[in-house]
Amino acid sequence: MKRFRIGVLTSGGDCPGLNAAIRAVVCSAELLGWEVYGFIDGFEGLISPVRYQILHEEDTQGIVALGGTILGTTNRGRFTTKTGIGEVLRLPKHLIDEVKETLEGLEIGALICVGGDGSLTAAQQLYEERVPIVGVPKTIDNDLSATDYSFGFYSAVEFVCRAMDRLRTTAASHRRVMVVEVMGRYTGWIALYGGLAGGANVILIPEIPFEYEKIAYHIRRRIAEGSHQTMIVVAEGAHPKDEQYYILEEEANIKKEARFGGIGRHLEKVIMKMTGQETRAVVLGHLQRGGEPTAFDRNLGMMFGAAAVDLIREKRFGYMVSYRHGKIGSVPIYEAIKVLKKVDLNCSEIKTARALGISFGCE
Ligand code: F6P
Repeated sequence: MKRFRIGVLTSGGDCPGLNAAIRAVVCSAELLGWEVYGFIDGFEGLISPVRYQILHEEDTQGIVALGGTILGTTNRGRFTTKTGIGEVLRLPKHLIDEVKETLEGLEIGALICVGGDGSLTAAQQLYEERVPIVGVPKTIDNDLSATDYSFGFYSAVEFVCRAMDRLRTTAASHRRVMVVEVMGRYTGWIALYGGLAGGANVILIPEIPFEYEKIAYHIRRRIAEGSHQTMIVVAEGAHPKDEQYYILEEEANIKKEARFGGIGRHLEKVIMKMTGQETRAVVLGHLQRGGEPTAFDRNLGMMFGAAAVDLIREKRFGYMVSYRHGKIGSVPIYEAIKVLKKVDLNCSEIKTARALGISFGCE
């Protein structure tokens, strides 16, 4: 008898935990007697020239501990649905038709898209055109609604925390201000969690526009109290009151999703000028996305992968697996993408930071 066949792809920026999700999909699908086709480089693998790899359990042994994705991915290319500062594009009809043809041609009955905000927006549009698709949330940014966490986030936070530990000793030795720029696009999850764990004195996030003078005041006060080094964590999307996001110049005018970056260096100059303190900026960049997943992200990836196979078994297309209050569940994909999940200013992490005297550059 012919076996039911599913496809799986990883799309958007890579992150630790993707391989754990892939392995879980393959293992749980095989237990149901299904076949798994892994499409290469995200949605791009579904269109000409079609590229895929048939995945068996033995192909995925040992990959849970590996960062990145064995299937490859892209966060640019023809399936881009987010451009500039978050505008949404519709996928062209010919691409949707091609995806359907590929799935029909290969007799694939359902597709799993492991992706973030942009990729799940593409998945939702495909679902609206009757492609049987389910979603798995991944992103280090943790900005998808309807799930408390996406895998990749805690691995990035762990890296930021360790980097802070290293940077503090050099900052203290030289009595410097250290500005650590971290990723996160429009949200400050990585900066908040990584900064708090890493002992930041100032945390700057997009959700709380800052004032230069307030940061300078905090640094001067610390010096007056005898602390000559200050650790500042700044989210790449953080910006001063009444000023725009910092976007990398070479990308600013291109019709692609905007690339954040530059706020760290900018702050380095301003702080040095305002306080007279030697200041150094460090951009952690893609180090936050690479490397092995934490145990939490491995487990979350595997739980999500297995749950996505379950969604297909139940024919609940257009749904995404989610993690809420410690439990795996599911939500319609559109619930996850309709609004970005920003840091709640009343959350325990913000309250704790304030209770510890950490500045958000506004008080
Ligand atoms: O969305 C994940 C993310 O790592 C963001 O935090 C960051 O702004 C962006 O991707 C970087 O993308 P790229 O890999 O294209 O430089």
